[in-house]
Amino acid sequence: MAVPNIDHRWPEYRDSLIDSIMDAAENLEGRKYRDEFERRFAQLNSAKHAIACANGTVAIELILRGLEIGRGDEVILPPYTFIASISAIVFAGATPVFADIHPETYCITAKSVESVITSKTKAILAVQLGGRPCDMEELSKVAEKHGIYLISDAAQAVAGVYRGKGIGSYGIAASFSFQNSKNLTSGEGGAITTNCDKLNEKIRGMLSFKEGHIGIDDNLSEIQAAVLLGGLDLIPEQLKKRTKNAKYLAKLLEPIPYVSAMPLVEENDTHARHLFFIRIHEDKLGGITRDEFTAAMLKKGVPLVTGYFPLYDFPCLTNNYVTKSLGNTINCKPETPVCEYISRHEASWLSPTAMLCEKDAMEYIAKAACEVYEELSKSKGGAE
Ligand SMILES: Cc1ncc(COP(=O)(O)O)c(C=O)c1O
Repeated sequence: MAVPNIDHRWPEYRDSLIDSIMDAAENLEGRKYRDEFERRFAQLNSAKHAIACANGTVAIELILRGLEIGRGDEVILPPYTFIASISAIVFAGATPVFADIHPETYCITAKSVESVITSKTKAILAVQLGGRPCDMEELSKVAEKHGIYLISDAAQAVAGVYRGKGIGSYGIAASFSFQNSKNLTSGEGGAITTNCDKLNEKIRGMLSFKEGHIGIDDNLSEIQAAVLLGGLDLIPEQLKKRTKNAKYLAKLLEPIPYVSAMPLVEENDTHARHLFFIRIHEDKLGGITRDEFTAAMLKKGVPLVTGYFPLYDFPCLTNNYVTKSLGNTINCKPETPVCEYISRHEASWLSPTAMLCEKDAMEYIAKAACEVYEELSKSKGGAE
């Protein structure tokens, strides 16, 4: 089977975008595109407010600062996420605390969160990993029970839906990223969604140096907003394709014992399908490791990588600057066995555009998984 195109051109644009970019460029002081983008992004998320900002990291930081969470406070997050999730907490001055993830979805769980709550906990940062909605219902219950905030890091979950409502409408607020790999992009960019009028006012005040607010110019530009509006138009079609391909690939992987897809989401949820995880089961690979398997897939032209290192591995989290600014140390030896195992032995993901390719690409990926196993088994057997 010839290698099909699994390197989809990204991002996709319509030609009409040029006119709006030119219009935005001639009216840089305006808010026409930002206002329209915020209106439509709030609508997409079934949220009352959307605030455009510079990027997804700043979006989390602004939410925390808006809630007056900082030095001395603890914020719970999963150790299996992009480093920006934790950087934002540290930049806000709060102490991050790790809670383990679910073995099949890699998302944080209510049970693991509850096990690390202390009198200093102020918020949970639930990462919608790869675009899969976390169990927001259970997380909300825990947040409510302990009087803490539930915040969503939905950087990877643009257009995600949970229980029939946009993912950005859950918890006190959600953050999004429009960095260039994301499902909606302006190269860089971010947004916050919230149903809380007070938080909306406060963050807008910070972004505009309004009287009574310590401000920071972490705003999105008119040109970026024009690009995002063009991208929003394409989201429904892209999401349809991503979902169809993801379901097809999951089915193709089903009979292969040593790899699996994550479980499909519930009927009234929408997985935003930023990342498709292939779980590699080392225990069924007869001595072949996840890393060897992934490298061999890549050699065959399948854009598969081994995913995140656990955040607690990063030496920067325990350096003097961090400890001094938090007035605290981060516990980098947490009890998170699931993250420990999956990050070193199981997780791998396809490039974010893989699900935008054609059906033959899905077939090639599944076939490559079988071939890689056979080839590696042979070479291992031969070496013994
Ligand atoms: C889970 C997660 N959180 C936060 C971010 C930060 O977003 P940005 O790169 O726009 O700052 C990213 C993306 O890069 C991400 O994947």
